[in-house]
Amino acid sequence: MDYSKLIYKAIKAREEAYAPYSNFKVGASVMTEDGSIYSGCNIENASYGATNCAERTAIFKAVSEGHRKLKAIAIVGSPEEYTYPCGICRQVIVEFSQDNMDIIIAKNKDDYIVKKLDEIMPGAFSKKDLGK
Ligand code: THU
Repeated sequence: MDYSKLIYKAIKAREEAYAPYSNFKVGASVMTEDGSIYSGCNIENASYGATNCAERTAIFKAVSEGHRKLKAIAIVGSPEEYTYPCGICRQVIVEFSQDNMDIIIAKNKDDYIVKKLDEIMPGAFSKKDLGK
């Protein structure tokens, strides 16, 4: 699968990151079942706990536009290290993952790794545990 466009969109979204407290900018893009792409950045707050991660910004944009099945997510954080999604975002990814979706973790457009969701979130609690 060619994820270059998804990574590019995450890189562009990262430019909009609002991170005056941590100075740690993150961009993310999700690909929905029908192939459309939604992107987002982290959005911090003076009340730190109100911060929203880039992954959740992108996912919530997709879901709020009617897309509940996601095929892949690209995440671009540090250019030096691979930035994996935080625990809260992993849980949100589980909620809207179609099958066992691809997680693309990029330092830049040329340097990235692809993981499966169950590699980074084994034994996840999900709707199946609730009989849904
Ligand atoms: N952050 C993300 O946007 N995604 C992650 O997966 C890790 C953390 C943001 C939240 C906060 O704005 C900053 O990075 C430092 O934690």
